[in-house]
Amino acid sequence: MSLSASNLPSQDPEIHQLLHQEWRRQEDGIELIASENQTSPAVMQAMGSTLTNKYAEGYPGRRYYGGCEVVDQVENLAKERLKELFQAYGANVQCSSGSQANQAALLAMVKPGGKILAMDLNHGGHLSHGHPKNASGVFYQFAHYGVAAETEQIDYDLLRQQALDYQPDLLLAGASAYPRFLDFEQLASIAREAGALFLVDMAHIAGLVAAGLHPSPVPHADVCTMTTHKTLRGPRGGAIVASKDWIKAINSAVFPGVQGGPLMHVVAAKAVAFAEALQPEFRQYQKQVVANAQTLAQGLLERGHRLVSGGTDNHLLLVDLRGPKGPGISGAQAEDALHAAGITVNKNLIPFDPAKPMLTSGIRIGTPAVTTRGFGAEEMQRLAEWMDAVLRHSEDTALLKQVRMQVEELCRQFPIYPEMEV
Ligand SMILES: Cc1ncc(COP(=O)(O)O)c(C=O)c1O
Repeated sequence: MSLSASNLPSQDPEIHQLLHQEWRRQEDGIELIASENQTSPAVMQAMGSTLTNKYAEGYPGRRYYGGCEVVDQVENLAKERLKELFQAYGANVQCSSGSQANQAALLAMVKPGGKILAMDLNHGGHLSHGHPKNASGVFYQFAHYGVAAETEQIDYDLLRQQALDYQPDLLLAGASAYPRFLDFEQLASIAREAGALFLVDMAHIAGLVAAGLHPSPVPHADVCTMTTHKTLRGPRGGAIVASKDWIKAINSAVFPGVQGGPLMHVVAAKAVAFAEALQPEFRQYQKQVVANAQTLAQGLLERGHRLVSGGTDNHLLLVDLRGPKGPGISGAQAEDALHAAGITVNKNLIPFDPAKPMLTSGIRIGTPAVTTRGFGAEEMQRLAEWMDAVLRHSEDTALLKQVRMQVEELCRQFPIYPEMEV
């Protein structure tokens, strides 16, 4: 099946034109959003399949609809592959997003009104970890831990004290913008000491964990949630792995707890992505993701930029735009200037940021997507040079245009989907 086999262009030229524009945007620009990636054509083919037509409430062998004999096999394959990938006891592959996976995990593990200790959103946490407007913050009592001011990393002794004082029902670890390894063994021992359950949201690092490049939370946590579309490089979605004690409760929290029919076309695409992640090439890819983040970090440090915590252990870095040798612009200005130059990043709060979330003092940069299209050390060095120039001359439209042309030229050498024509 090919995407061009459909009659979309004539049936719906407006949407077709927009799909074309987005395809070109992705091909012609440098994608540094740390939570994005580019799935394989095989993953996309599964997503564009007839499985989108099928209702399958329930679980394989126990569905509320007939005709599930094929999708049952698809879901079982996805589950088995996910378990193998993370050496997990149980797996649920039905969650439509990472936030929904978190919602299900909390529903299974904590009674409404229960106490949860999670990472502060302003220090790298996620909305679904207790933001007052998110369901998590509405239904549970959250306290938050942050990073230490001097190191900009989690201080596990301070966290232990906080957990012992707060006595949470559940300790939640995991972040959207934390460039360092998380010590899951220590976090688990803190949870145990405080009498709390231990939930890890490994959305960002799942691909690194699968490849053995970040310590795995799975042996230490009761439950781990994840997204499938970030470093894991699958379709947009969520998944959960759980210990023997928790998988049953997780399954019933996902269905009927937080959703009806699962997106079976996406479950099939997850199965394809998990099989890809089990291949030796995936480990090579993840090694390059980390190497690229380190090369880019080095290139920016050499040019006087300040990185939160001084560097990175994983796929992302946080640049503090203030500081004596920094460009002195806001995260929002940086995002706009880089965008004009064909480089996509997101503005991001940095720990203890005095700026508002829509402005911020930092940007978050990730290497999963550029690594997928084949960028290596040489391209990361060029990128550091371009980013430095753009950040320091963010109002020089001629310079932004010139970088934009160089970016496009480089991108043409690294097509993402060489066979595709949208
Ligand atoms: C740590 C973490 N958890 C959960 C999510 C939510 O994932 P989704 O956008 O699929 O709901 C994200 C997304 O960025 C994340 O970074």
